[in-house]
Amino acid sequence: MNGPIDRHAETSVPIHPLLASRQSTRAFEDGVDLSDGQIAALLEAARWSPSSGNTQPWRFIVSRRDTPEFKRVLDCLDPGNAEWAQHASALIVAVRVESNAKGPLRHAAYDLGQSMAHLTFQAAAEGLTVRQMGGFDAAAIAGEFDLPEPFEPTAVAAIGVAGDPERLADGVAGPDRAPRARLPLDELVIGS
Ligand SMILES: Cc1cc2nc3c(=O)[nH]c(=O)nc-3n(C[C@H](O)[C@H](O)[C@H](O)COP(=O)(O)O)c2cc1C
Repeated sequence: MNGPIDRHAETSVPIHPLLASRQSTRAFEDGVDLSDGQIAALLEAARWSPSSGNTQPWRFIVSRRDTPEFKRVLDCLDPGNAEWAQHASALIVAVRVESNAKGPLRHAAYDLGQSMAHLTFQAAAEGLTVRQMGGFDAAAIAGEFDLPEPFEPTAVAAIGVAGDPERLADGVAGPDRAPRARLPLDELVIGS
């Protein structure tokens, strides 16, 4: 690749700069430790997300680099994800709560996703990048962390300071070296 690629979102009108510049990188700067305050801010942002009936059907397994918990999460990732995610500063497992005492929580996945969107925005404000993953063994994480029945690991977020994509192996660097793309706005709006 010759020269850096512009991975800023191309928008039809200006949006919040943190949303426009956010991107899910696979490259992380090695050896960066997140502060307790940064981790707390990420979780607070998730915690204050809205949810259906304020049921808050989200739980988080928080693991920091160089800890046994980090290795336990890492070992449950698909190998292609583990290859780059091992350099992240933290891996957070987003767990949805599928039911409570009143019955099934129909919007649990929606609510958990929204809490992760809040976390991702806060991460951007902290100067951090987040790449979420669906490529992992949910049953293995549930077993490893002894999660009770209604708790379903749904995504794993790799979090850290964005690194140089040129340092990634060619096999995993693809997304970081490509422009970011989206469907056009008029395809998203129904009935206009
Ligand atoms: C639920 C979810 C699952 C994802 N799974 C993976 C994954 O397993 N591996 C990976 O490298 N990226 C994964 N991603 C990252 C997406 O591919 C990425 O967010 C998308 O291509 C848009 O890139 P951008 O966030 O930089 O705009 C996932 C993202 C989400 C939200």
